[in-house]
Amino acid sequence: MSSTKSINVVDLILRKRDKGVLSADEIAGFVKGYTSGQIPDYQASALLMASFLNGMNEDEMMALTYSMMHSGQVIDHSDVQGRKVDKHSTGGVGDKTSIILAPLVASCGVPIPMISGRGLGHTGGTLDKLESIPGFSTQMNIENYRRQLKEIGVVMIGQTAEIAPADKKLYALRDVTGTVEFIPFIAASILSKKLAEGINNLVLDVKFGSGAFMSEESDARKLAETLTNLAERFGTDTVALLTDMDQPLGFGVGNWPEIVESIACLHGNGPEDVMDVTYALASEMLMAGGAVDSLDEGLSMAENAITSGRAWEKFEQLVERQGGSLDSIRRPTERDLGRNEAFITAPSDGMVTRIDAKTVGRAAVDLGAGRKQKDDVVDPIAGITLYVSAGHTVTKGEKLARIQASENERLEETEEYLSTAFEFGEECEIPISRVKDRYSNGAWLNP
Ligand code: URA
Repeated sequence: MSSTKSINVVDLILRKRDKGVLSADEIAGFVKGYTSGQIPDYQASALLMASFLNGMNEDEMMALTYSMMHSGQVIDHSDVQGRKVDKHSTGGVGDKTSIILAPLVASCGVPIPMISGRGLGHTGGTLDKLESIPGFSTQMNIENYRRQLKEIGVVMIGQTAEIAPADKKLYALRDVTGTVEFIPFIAASILSKKLAEGINNLVLDVKFGSGAFMSEESDARKLAETLTNLAERFGTDTVALLTDMDQPLGFGVGNWPEIVESIACLHGNGPEDVMDVTYALASEMLMAGGAVDSLDEGLSMAENAITSGRAWEKFEQLVERQGGSLDSIRRPTERDLGRNEAFITAPSDGMVTRIDAKTVGRAAVDLGAGRKQKDDVVDPIAGITLYVSAGHTVTKGEKLARIQASENERLEETEEYLSTAFEFGEECEIPISRVKDRYSNGAWLNP
């Protein structure tokens, strides 16, 4: 039999195949049946593909998100004072802003119960970066997660088996059935996890460009609109920033290299582009959390949290509480000594006009910073430190980047490929800000 107690899966597949619409009960029955193992992969795959090809309306998306969110625990943080806020980035090469933002915003009194993911394709993941700090644990049960939020105002963990288990199973199936790049599935997947965290407000960083999950700006805009409007329907106030990810963000790409750069940012020595995106997101999170009444006030508060050292102190508290080595974050450059390294150099005199983010991200994965297969173990120190960005004039032989990996062969294999990321020319356009637009209450600021 292919039906669960209340639904007949074949009927649902036929209806979606013929461009029909499913009810909320039918979607709930499917999610429940698939998560529990009653519905086999082959039928779930057919339903996913029929939906992918023929679309889903807003009510179907809402029902899918709701069912996936309620497939596990929905956490209650009502014993923690204040509006609980989280940020989600759709991911980008060198995007380490979560590591800076969580302690920064928490140090201003806004509770941050952050649940993050691992690297996906050429984009890195916050969990892999945090785990490159020796001893840092991202695994915690819900009780300890709630307790840490209450006691120090910030917690950063990975998805647990109790949170949106339907997403874990469906994501794995989408990954092998060509059904990942579909906005309703992406939105339900992201929001089912975020809304289960028990947050009041969500700030989204939706990226576009070569180094992002969505390369086209128009697709990123559509995703930002869908995510924001859907989250609002669940009663979670949400705002989305649209950010340019065509070139790597900052200079560090890879797990430990990004922690090293995050530490510099928390000490007030971060690259301009990273701080630009971080401050824009921090201002939104501070306003969402009720700490300030305007984005300008949020910006001043965020800058003050960095210059006063408060954000750094909160980061140290977070690292210590989750078992990480304080020594390693206090002396981050010492850890690199003696490791295998190589350098990419300029082939001739000229101006670097562009550094292709996707090539840099893939090179970092080749070095061992990300996974090519699900069960690959990442190399915490593998990665790239860029010495230049677009607009830099270089002379022949000048170092463009340092690459690091625990295995020497990986360096040789990656050098040539990474050198193709650098484009040279006479002139280039550098955007004033990576933050391109802001979407809230159903409208863009700069449509
Ligand atoms: N990130 C997610 O969590 N889910 C998706 O479907 C895509 C990106």
